Amino acid sequence: MRIATTPAMLRQELAGPRQRLVLVPTMGALHDGHLALVQRAREAAGPAGWVAVSIFVNPIQFDRPGDLANYPQPLTEDLEKCRAAGVDLVFCPDQTAMYLPDRSITVTESLLSRQLCGATRPGHFDGVCTVVIKLFNLFQADAAVFGEKDVQQLAIIRRMVRDLDLPVDIIAHPTIREHDGLAMSSRNVRLLPEHRADAPRIHRALEATRSLLRCGERNAAPFLAAARKHLEDSPFLRIDYLEMVDAETLEPIGRIQRPAVMATAVFYGEVRLIDHATLLP
Ligand code: PAF
Repeated sequence: MRIATTPAMLRQELAGPRQRLVLVPTMGALHDGHLALVQRAREAAGPAGWVAVSIFVNPIQFDRPGDLANYPQPLTEDLEKCRAAGVDLVFCPDQTAMYLPDRSITVTESLLSRQLCGATRPGHFDGVCTVVIKLFNLFQADAAVFGEKDVQQLAIIRRMVRDLDLPVDIIAHPTIREHDGLAMSSRNVRLLPEHRADAPRIHRALEATRSLLRCGERNAAPFLAAARKHLEDSPFLRIDYLEMVDAETLEPIGRIQRPAVMATAVFYGEVRLIDHATLLP
């Protein structure tokens, strides 16, 4: 497995003729969810193609300094996991390699980031778009794999690819869950034991509302009320947001007439977790 820690090293690794290249952008602290993305990348690259993983905790997408400071960064273990998963190339730069001190250009998304996480995390998606376009430029990958768990991030990256004519295919991979339903996240390891035991309720709260759909309910309000009640039964969590939005535009909706997404973000102490359910009318 090749490892590059600067853009110059990466360019060197990518010089010369090469096969199809599929990128999995990550912030490290790799878990089975990431490894599923790597496996998907291998399918898309083919046995002779290259699977690349970037590991970079992108400072400009963090809105809370404590979240950045506490973000797990087990690089040695991550590299071992990549090697075992058959990754061909890892790019793991430090901050100075990615951002010059007088950096002054940022990608701005001004529509899809108004709702959900974007509403409570100002600047977050501009930071995501900026680093993702840098990674796309550096790798010149044919395709990149993103998890559906970050449903808003996925929609915004697809929009950026469309609006800026970026020559990369976006491949979405379904959310990978722990055995008890909690969506896998690098932040899960920071949960206190009692919070970890409580956290599967997030998925249950969203999924339980499907029975309303089966009974013919289409108004968003009863879905949101039922999920809110389930979440608020927890003695530990605080709801950041709980919303029903259109699956494509991410605009809030009052009725489910097209594919919809009920999405939530909750805090357990300082740890913020997100999850969503896609509801089809
Ligand atoms: O989803 C993530 O891990 C990050 O937001 C990403 C896409 C790697 C950009 O830093």
